[in-house]
Amino acid sequence: RVAGPCGLVIFGVTGDLSRKKLMPAIYDLANRGLLPPGFALVGFARRDWEDQDFAQVVHDAVKQHARTPFRDEVWKQLSEGIRFVSGEFGDKQAFETLRETIRDLDEKRGTQGNHAFYLSVPPKFFPDVVRQLKETGLADGPEHAWRRVVIEKPFGHDLASAQELQRIVGEVFDPSSVFRIDHYLGKETVQNILALRFANEMFEPIWNRGYVDHVQITMAEDVGIGGRAGYYDGIGAARDVIQNHLLQLLALTAMEEPVSFDARDLRLEKLKVLNATHAGKDISRSTARGQYVRGWQGGELVPGYLEEEGIPADSITDTYAAVQLEIETRRWAGVPWYLRTGKRLGRRVTEIAVVFHRAPHLPFSRNQVEELGQNALVMRIQPDEGMTVRFGSKVPGTSMEVRDVTMDFAYGESFTESSPEAYERLILDVLLGDPPLFPRHEEVEASWRILDPIEEHWESHGKPDTYPAGTWGPRSSDEMLARNGHVWRRP
Ligand code: BG6
Repeated sequence: RVAGPCGLVIFGVTGDLSRKKLMPAIYDLANRGLLPPGFALVGFARRDWEDQDFAQVVHDAVKQHARTPFRDEVWKQLSEGIRFVSGEFGDKQAFETLRETIRDLDEKRGTQGNHAFYLSVPPKFFPDVVRQLKETGLADGPEHAWRRVVIEKPFGHDLASAQELQRIVGEVFDPSSVFRIDHYLGKETVQNILALRFANEMFEPIWNRGYVDHVQITMAEDVGIGGRAGYYDGIGAARDVIQNHLLQLLALTAMEEPVSFDARDLRLEKLKVLNATHAGKDISRSTARGQYVRGWQGGELVPGYLEEEGIPADSITDTYAAVQLEIETRRWAGVPWYLRTGKRLGRRVTEIAVVFHRAPHLPFSRNQVEELGQNALVMRIQPDEGMTVRFGSKVPGTSMEVRDVTMDFAYGESFTESSPEAYERLILDVLLGDPPLFPRHEEVEASWRILDPIEEHWESHGKPDTYPAGTWGPRSSDEMLARNGHVWRRP
């Protein structure tokens, strides 16, 4: 899988995402020999830069964040194809300059008219960029060449705005040319959910309401909002990651077996299960949200959300969100799916825990099984990638006593191959025109349909609860599970 002649244009190239993820990923792809030798990278932003200024920024970003070693010959080859276009996102003149730049690259670097446009810009600029691409003829390109558009999340703010965005994008690009990024789908461990479920015989028979008691999907972060106040405030935890990453994890864990792993078949099954998912009738009982206040984290006293730079003192943005979802299908009816995420939590961890019913009968006395919990299968998405199975075992000794033990699979121990970074995989897929790992618009809509009633409920209920930084979220979140006799795992 090596990309053919092509180039990538990044809009909003001065942002954090570009520097930390996109530029290093491009270098790593080049270093692994997966990009064509004449690959071209064009940056587009308002900054008044020359090509060399931008090349220097890419160089520094690569040195700081790339995964593979820096090699002069790879950098030289890549840097010769780097260009910068300065302009506003609605500025026709700048887009005409971009068109000329691309034409020039086609001649000098042999990119043959094949270009992807990566929109790493706040959503309010999507319409401007897409319209300018259309008006300057950049969206179409010459005959036999491809043009693709890559859209970073958030894709809208709610269902209505997502539909409006889709209308604008749909007027310019054919659905097969639109790649919506959900970088969780680029993670090895996320793709492995499908391998685990559908390459094996032993899990699928118990993957249903008959055996599964409930499922917990956790995406916890120890960091705060960093320098992202402008993006984060007013969006909050649920819109930031539940609407996309966590619902995609739910879809992959809950969906039926796809006919194949082709984009069409895979997305169809994900869509079906998302369409069957909702927050239940009484939203006040099936959700919890919080905002961090000052607290100790990693031995350091860190500021509360309202004390962070750029956050209004009366902000009601959620930095923690937990929801209990139901999936109305034969397989999952009655099984609670708990999703939670938050900033400034106890530690950074993402996992999916499938928790099984208790054995129907335990032929042991009470004190023999005191330390026995429920069986669980935990897919460890990050950082300690792997899988854990928890089950009861006899404690060595002269009496029959049973206790929980775990059995672990760790990527590092089983594979010598290294995992590509999520963005590496996804950028390569865009350049190859390979869509299975990109959610279709209908999935985005289905996810907003799940989230909209929750956000509406929260908006009409004022302030979120609070939790000290470094803890595991507000008490209301524990209470939500306790109502069903469940407790959150402490990963
Ligand atoms: C992004 C969110 O999509 O995912 C961020 O906007 C979050 O708020 C990030 O920090 C986490 O990604 P990862 O890959 O580090 O889990």
